[in-house]
Amino acid sequence: GAKKLWGGRFSGATDPLMEAFNESIHFDRRMFAADIQGSRAYAKALHKQGILTLTEQSQLDKGLAMVLSEWQAGTFELKPGDEDIHTANERRLGEIVGSVSGKLHTGRSRNDQVATDMRLWLRDEVKQMVNFLRELVGVLVSRAQTDVDVLMPGYTHLQRAQPIRWSHFLLSYAFSFQQDTQRLEESLPRICQLPLGSGALAGNPFQVDRQWLAKELGFSSVTPNSLYGTSDRDFVAEFLFHCSLIMVHISRLAEDLIIYSTAEFGFVQLADAYSTGSSLMPQKKNPDSLELLRGKSGRVFGDMAGFMMTYKGLPSTYNKDMQEDKEPMFDAVDTLTGSLQITAAVIATLRINAKKMKNSLTGDMLATDLAEYLVRKGVPFRETHHISGAAVKMAEDRGCQISDLSVADLQTLHTSFSNDVLLVWNYEKSVDNRSSIGGTSRVTVLAQIEQLKLWLN
Ligand code: ARG
Repeated sequence: GAKKLWGGRFSGATDPLMEAFNESIHFDRRMFAADIQGSRAYAKALHKQGILTLTEQSQLDKGLAMVLSEWQAGTFELKPGDEDIHTANERRLGEIVGSVSGKLHTGRSRNDQVATDMRLWLRDEVKQMVNFLRELVGVLVSRAQTDVDVLMPGYTHLQRAQPIRWSHFLLSYAFSFQQDTQRLEESLPRICQLPLGSGALAGNPFQVDRQWLAKELGFSSVTPNSLYGTSDRDFVAEFLFHCSLIMVHISRLAEDLIIYSTAEFGFVQLADAYSTGSSLMPQKKNPDSLELLRGKSGRVFGDMAGFMMTYKGLPSTYNKDMQEDKEPMFDAVDTLTGSLQITAAVIATLRINAKKMKNSLTGDMLATDLAEYLVRKGVPFRETHHISGAAVKMAEDRGCQISDLSVADLQTLHTSFSNDVLLVWNYEKSVDNRSSIGGTSRVTVLAQIEQLKLWLN
């Protein structure tokens, strides 16, 4: 086999099966840029300490820039024995700059290196994810604005409850995604702690200036303890939780829309671009995009749960188990990147059937409004609830709508009913009555839209 970076004390060869089992290059290669960025900064830090001459540092810097451009051009050639991204880059650097490459790893370990790479990599991905989330919120907001006059049944227990604006429904998710965005942004200072300079576990013996390194790499702080610096993967756990919660929101939205897209509801129709047909039943148009979104949420929870299981029993500092931390992180990033974009596209292209939504409103959904009518006449709400319930029953017994009951009928239930009760049977009015902050009235829905727009800008 190829010469190993750690091979000095070994006389026996590695079993090829073990070699394949041990390697992580096939997935951690995606951190190539972060690995090189960290190394270039570290070489400068070594020069500051007089470990490298300026010439050596600039040789290394040019060499590393070349390795980077090979990765970017897709011409980097992996060789047998390239165990992971760190060893691969160092091997290639050696081929380019010669023996001076052997000075780069002075005082550094793959333990502080890999932790640094992951944080650098994740920092950029989180920023990208924040952008996708904001785009999704933007799509929900503009859709809510366009459709602001559309009314639909609101549900609890999936039973018809009260009339709401369709926009109110859309905005409820926009606010969840806004919170998700803020949570991700708030996690950045915890991701941006620099472990480089922690060595294998005990610290750096050449007094490298870690504060300087942090600044050079755009990190906000340094890990304050070298054991913690090499041990800590809390930032991965936290990230996987945020991803899981985002997927909860996506999955619930998908579930709502799957239900609303059935013929029985018929509120929405997915664009062809995000549906598929059946190989057997010619009439079928299936909401596959939404089902995949719902399904992929399970996958992301799996990333989190799997990672937690790997992480929980580890003794202090680096253990090889930690090589298993990257794939769940990568998978969550990839799954979220796709899911956020598909969700936005589905929402943007969704066709709604406003008539069907409106026609699904039923008089009994105004039973609460009937009770509130009596409240306005001075009747205590607990009584009005009972009286309105009796009106619902009366209509049910007669096989008519509650709004078909005459004023005289209602007066048999309570003397406070008069002709103006007929004004209750108005869905628009019902919705617009709910005009305290956060309500489904036109004014308060428009205020929600303004609030989100302000945040988006
Ligand atoms: N490929 C390793 C990982 O992903 C890099 C760190 C290896 N460190 C070590 N002490 N063997 O975790």
